[in-house]
Amino acid sequence: MNKKIIYSGIQPTGIITIGNFIGAISNWLKMQDDYDCIFGIADLHALTVRQVPAEYRKRALSFFAQYIACGLDPEKSILYFQSHVAEHAELQWILNCFTYIGEMQRMTQFKDKAAKHADNINMGLLDYPVLMAADILLYQTSLVPVGIDQKQHLEITRDIAVRFNNLYSPTFTVPEAYIGERGAKIYSLREPGQKMSKSDPDPNAAVSIIEDADVIMKKFMSAVTDSDTVVRYDPENKPGVSNLMVIMSEMGGLGIQEIERLYGDKGYAVFKRACGEAVVERLKPIKAEYDRLMSDKDYLMAVARDGAERARRLARRTLNKVKRKVGLVEQ
Ligand code: TYM
Repeated sequence: MNKKIIYSGIQPTGIITIGNFIGAISNWLKMQDDYDCIFGIADLHALTVRQVPAEYRKRALSFFAQYIACGLDPEKSILYFQSHVAEHAELQWILNCFTYIGEMQRMTQFKDKAAKHADNINMGLLDYPVLMAADILLYQTSLVPVGIDQKQHLEITRDIAVRFNNLYSPTFTVPEAYIGERGAKIYSLREPGQKMSKSDPDPNAAVSIIEDADVIMKKFMSAVTDSDTVVRYDPENKPGVSNLMVIMSEMGGLGIQEIERLYGDKGYAVFKRACGEAVVERLKPIKAEYDRLMSDKDYLMAVARDGAERARRLARRTLNKVKRKVGLVEQ
């Protein structure tokens, strides 16, 4: 590999939403030709909350199929399951010894999740960012395309990398977050002040990228807006409408100003329908390809095995270097 390396991933919880698509996957698609990209299904991460094993296995495979259906190309990028590459957990252990408990306790996602799962504040929840750092640092990643909610995890990854490099000698590439200008945070269709979350208990709050067209339309038609009637981009005073405008722009390709010009005075019903239709159109080929892929599990597993093998080769290189530097006896 000689191009810059990109790494990113999604946890197989809930559904892959149009928020994940706009905030992360659409940027991954743009990067495939210019960089060496590695995209994992972060299935060890999602064990930090209780999963029903049979459902979990199915969902992880479904997410993998959705990666490919979106246009991530196994010929260009490495696509794999995190749990298939044992080096992630091994590097995490070593990095744990270079990370302070206080740093982890200050993470906003830890605080949020601990509040949400008060009966299961396990070590994994606290240690989650170190596993994420291991994911990224194992591959000498330069850029990590994510939504804004992962920014803090990227900062701690950088801190850990710099700390290790300073203690020993340059070992890890210090990665940077790549966060899109717009769409880095897509909001809930029901509560425009909240992030669109893949595991929101309200099914109308988020839209899956493999949702049926009629369900997508219903969700957009019932999206929360405001008591005004004007379609204008004003995130502060019109968060619901502005969120829909960003979604429409990112999914349909129209600029924000163009949307204002076309729908400004047409009323919300017309605008919401157009927004829903833009999303349906963008997702239609993805859904068709997803259905096709899910009927070919052998192909999916062959891609996963090949991806894991390629990932493992790269991961081994970094891990061996790290083990040598910290003074472990070489085999
Ligand atoms: P996860 O699974 O919560 O989300 C996957 C990606 O989608 C982005 N995202 C959003 N972007 C815009 N609007 C939203 N409403 C929205 N919701 C989510 C996230 O920022 C993310 O980019 N810890 C990670 C997974 C992970 C990872 C990694 C990422 C594990 N290892 C290494 C990068 C590198 C997570 O939970 O993302």
